Amino acid sequence: MATPDPHGPPLAVWPTAQQALADQRAQYPDLPPVAFPVMAPALAQRLVTELSQPGDLVADLMCGSGTVCVEALDLERHVLAVDCEPACVAQTRDTLDARPQAPALVEQLWQADAREAGDLLVGYRGCCDLIVIAPPAPATGSRSTDSLQPANLARLDPEAHDGAMVDVLAACAVLLRPGGCLAVLTQYSPRWAGRLLDPLPRTVSAAAEAGLEYHQHIIVLTHPLRHGRIHARPAPPRRITVSSTAAVATLHSNAHANICLFRKPFPSAPEVGEGLNQ
Ligand SMILES: C[S@@+](CC[C@H](N)C(=O)[O-])C[C@H]1O[C@@H](n2cnc3c(N)ncnc32)[C@H](O)[C@@H]1O
Repeated sequence: MATPDPHGPPLAVWPTAQQALADQRAQYPDLPPVAFPVMAPALAQRLVTELSQPGDLVADLMCGSGTVCVEALDLERHVLAVDCEPACVAQTRDTLDARPQAPALVEQLWQADAREAGDLLVGYRGCCDLIVIAPPAPATGSRSTDSLQPANLARLDPEAHDGAMVDVLAACAVLLRPGGCLAVLTQYSPRWAGRLLDPLPRTVSAAAEAGLEYHQHIIVLTHPLRHGRIHARPAPPRRITVSSTAAVATLHSNAHANICLFRKPFPSAPEVGEGLNQ
């Protein structure tokens, strides 16, 4: 583990794309086919293995097709899952229910807005050992989001999305136990108003607002590492417009995503003598 920035958290690099995503998912024939970006099973497995213990409570408040939940269940963790889309909740329920350990280990599976999870899951406040979230990218006008639930963050423009993430991370802080860990997957997303959107700085400040400590930064390679080099295929040529002039260019493709690991601090011990006279 290296620390290139003396003021930043420790840095790690995880090569969790050594196998193509389709090949990774093929090892789980019961996982449903998905029409939207998902977390790679190898990444979900490593997060759950390294950041929790058997018997712990692992939550995914944006569970999608259930990749994190399936890994958590297979690794003998208790599972809490939330998603705002009924189809995602149904997919995750079907996959989890097919496993014999589900009745003992699946705690709750809810269709809900992650922003409200702290109010809805009252009995789990301060109980989660690990929460994993991979929020969708904000809407940039390049695709229709009309079919999505009103609560889906993918419907929000980048500024509203930033605001919503403050509420999501606050809900995570409520559900985490002291010392518990929150892993947030962030990825560059499409350009908006000429800017390449990087949700990383806003995620870090939203976590600080929620009282969470930035514990570790993980660079997740999204392309395989072979003989010490990243094998990223070039992105297909795209039509771009620069100062009203249209051109076709080959853009670089992203070769990594980021995982920010945050920890909920333990309450500080009272000062000696504090409260003695109250
Ligand atoms: C990239 S997917 C998550 C993948 C998932 N972690 C897995 O293991 O496969 C993002 C998910 O966030 C969900 N989502 C978006 N906004 C949400 C919200 N406000 N509350 C709950 N879920 C939300 C979407 O429905 C989508 O399923």
